[in-house]
Amino acid sequence: MKNKIIVTGGCGYIGSHTVIELIENNFEVVILDDLSNSTEETLSRIEKITGVKPTFINIDLKNETKTKEVFSNHKDTKAVIHFAAHKAVGESVQKPLMYYKNNLYSLLNTLSAQVENNINGFIFSSSATVYGTPETLPITEENETQRPFSPYGNTKKVAEEILDDLIKSNPNFAAISLRYFNPIGAHESGLIGELPSGIPNNLMPYITQTAVGLREKLMVYGNDYPTKDGTPIRDYIHVVDLAKAHVLAVKRIIKKEQEKALEIFNLGTGNGFSVLDVIHSFEDVTNSKLNYEIVERRAGDVPKLYASTDLAKQKLGWTASKTLNEMILSSWNWEQKLRNKTK
Ligand code: NAD
Ligand code: UD1
Repeated sequence: MKNKIIVTGGCGYIGSHTVIELIENNFEVVILDDLSNSTEETLSRIEKITGVKPTFINIDLKNETKTKEVFSNHKDTKAVIHFAAHKAVGESVQKPLMYYKNNLYSLLNTLSAQVENNINGFIFSSSATVYGTPETLPITEENETQRPFSPYGNTKKVAEEILDDLIKSNPNFAAISLRYFNPIGAHESGLIGELPSGIPNNLMPYITQTAVGLREKLMVYGNDYPTKDGTPIRDYIHVVDLAKAHVLAVKRIIKKEQEKALEIFNLGTGNGFSVLDVIHSFEDVTNSKLNYEIVERRAGDVPKLYASTDLAKQKLGWTASKTLNEMILSSWNWEQKLRNKTK
C-alpha cells in the first residue's frame, strides 16, 4: 500500500513540483487547493509527466467545517505538506488582514483537522524572510529570527511559533519547517512552472517576462548596497531541488527519524549571487541582452542572504544539485513555452 500524503496548495508553483516528486517516489497524493493562485490544468500536466492524476479537492482551507470534513475522509493520511498561502509581499503590506486571515486560518484549520483525525506529521513552507537582516552569514538555523518586514513574512514567523506551541502540547505531533531561500526554475519538461498573477514581484519571473517582451524593462532596485557590485545577494534554489527536500522530509517523519518534534531546515544552495550576477548569467545562457535600469532601493530588501545548508545535508541527506545557469535555463524554457501556448 502506498503512503498517502495530503498536499495543500498542491496546484501551485512549489506544490506541483513536489507532487511530481512524491508520485515518482511512490506516494499517493491528495491535493487540497482553492485555485486562488493556480489552475486545474496543472493536474493534467502532472499526469502527463508522471502518468498519474492525483486526487484533487477544490477547497478553501479558511473554511473550518469543510476542512475537517475532508480530513475525516482521509484519516489514513501519513503526513501533510502545507503550501497553501498567499505570497505576494507588496500586496500583504496593502492588505495585511487578508494575509493574516488566509495564511493563518488555513494553517490553524489544517492543524486542527489533523489533530482531530490523529494525522500527526506536518511539513511547513517557511521562508528565509524569518531571519530579517541577519548579522552573520551564511545563515544557520541557529541564527535569531526577527520580525519580518512584511505581514506576509510575519505569517511565516507566527506559523512557526504556533507549531512550536502545538508540538509542546501534543506529544504525538511531529513537524518540519522548511525555510526556503529564493526558489526559481521550472520542471525540465517545461510543462509546469511559476505562474505569477499580474506584475511579478520576484526577480526571475520579471527577467523572463522582460526578455519575452511582456515587460518593457527590469528595474534593478538599488546598486549602493555593501556588496561586490552594489546589488543585493541572494541564494537562488531550483524548485525541483526544493521539491526533493520535501520528499526526504516526508520520509523522515514517516520513519520517525526526527530528533526533535519540531525540526527546522534551511533550503538553499549556500551560494550567494547578486542581482547583476543573475542578469549577466541570463544574458550569457540565452545569448541575448536584457533591458534593465538601476532605480531606487525597494523597501524591506536586505543586502545579503545566503544559507548554511549543513543541517539539511546532515539530517535530511539533501543537497541542491542544480547550478544557477540550469535554474535560469529552465525558467526561460518555461516562460517561452507558456507564451507560445497563450499567443
Ligand atoms: P503559489 O501561490 O504558487 O501556491 C500556493 C497555492 O495555495 C496556490 O495553488 C493557491 O491557489 C493555494 N491557496 C492559497 N490560499 C489557499 C486557501 N485558503 N485554501 C486552499 N488553497 C489555497 O505559491 P508557491 O510559490 O508555490 O509557494 C508555496 C508556499 O511556499 C507558500 O506557503 C509560500 O508562502 C511559501 N514560500 C514561497 C516562496 C517563493 O518564492 N515562491 C518562498 C518562501 C516560501
Ligand atoms: C522576496 C520577499 C520575501 C519572500 C521572497 C519569496 C521582499 C522584500 N522580500 O524575497 O519576503 O519570501 O520574495 O517570495 O519582497 N529585484 C530587482 N528587481 C525586481 C525584482 C527583484 O532588482 O523587479 C531584486 C530585489 O531587490 C532583490 C533580488 O532581486 O535584491 C531578489 O528579489 P526577489 O526575487 O523579490 O526575492 P527577495 O527580495 O529575496
